Amino acid sequence: MNRSRVAGTGGYLPERIMTNAELESLVDTSDEWIRERTGIAQRHIAAPEQTCSDLAEAASLKALAQAGLNADEIDLIIVATSTPDHVFPSTACRLVERLGMPSGVVAFDVAAACSGFVYALDVADRFIRTGGASRALVIGAEVFSRILDWQDRGTCVLFGDGAGAIVLEASEKPGVLSTHLHADGRQTPLLNVPWGVSQGYERLEDERGKVSMRGNEVFRVAVRTLGALVDETLEANGLERGDVDWLVPHQANIRIMTATARKLGLPPSRMVSTVAEHGNTSAASIPLALDQAVGDGRIQRGDLLLLEAFGAGFTWGSALIRY
Ligand code: ACO
Repeated sequence: MNRSRVAGTGGYLPERIMTNAELESLVDTSDEWIRERTGIAQRHIAAPEQTCSDLAEAASLKALAQAGLNADEIDLIIVATSTPDHVFPSTACRLVERLGMPSGVVAFDVAAACSGFVYALDVADRFIRTGGASRALVIGAEVFSRILDWQDRGTCVLFGDGAGAIVLEASEKPGVLSTHLHADGRQTPLLNVPWGVSQGYERLEDERGKVSMRGNEVFRVAVRTLGALVDETLEANGLERGDVDWLVPHQANIRIMTATARKLGLPPSRMVSTVAEHGNTSAASIPLALDQAVGDGRIQRGDLLLLEAFGAGFTWGSALIRY
């Protein structure tokens, strides 16, 4: 049976930067509060005409270039997103055309909110292991700014736009060592976009079509759940605390991330953190962080990485990867 390994990474952030100071003029907040409670200093915001597939395409081209591959050598494309271009076709299908991939490839989107990238990675790894694909583009791309209520200080200060991508390819040497996915829909009221397409399209424009979160309650569940996920991942691989080289977490809140690093027995210097510059880019945050740490040379071939995420659903998941 094949295994899969990461052959390339890429990221894209929109040009426009929105600082905490700018948010002070929109809602009753302060730079100090946002930095202290979340670790966020700024976020990138897509231009009005930029869509999810624009961001995803830019990140994908960089990942392909790093892998030394052309789009016509990819036979599977999965986009993790909660903010797609269309109801249908999927953003992945749009990218088949835009990237110039051959007709007949496998392409679909995955919806698992902030855990979407880990979900997509798990699915792509399974396709490759079972021979259903040999090279996959796995993308997390979000234009979360479009589903934020810019009058709700409890959510609008947290999120940003961006896209990250990896190329996963069949390999004799294992890269993806294990993946662990979970979900539980029982606490939907704590974090959701209340209104959806089938509930009445016309209401999507108002605040019901925007992110709603009881942040403090989500925070407590996230820390507890990610702690158990770390235990599960280490145990499944016969590892001890401190054995992993890098934590590449979903970038929701520096305090959640640091608690997970502590649980893993890692100092903050071994955690890849982009939350200060990117905010929470939902499904894009892990591949963006991975790309940054690969690009600046922190993550080296052979390093052992733990990727983890917690998000709306609730969904949560991890991937242990030998880079
Ligand atoms: N500026 C100033 N004050 C604020 C702001 C703000 N932007 N937002 C909230 N406050 C106030 C609150 O109203 C509250 O005031 P009160 O005490 O007078 O009632 C006070 O600050 C404390 O609010 P808390 O919600 O208790 O603050 P907390 O320390 O929990 O931080 C935060 C809030 C940052 C949202 C945190 O709870 C968090 O990060 N939660 C988890 C988010 C997460 O991981 N989500 C999952 C992924 S996202 C996805 O899947 C789409």
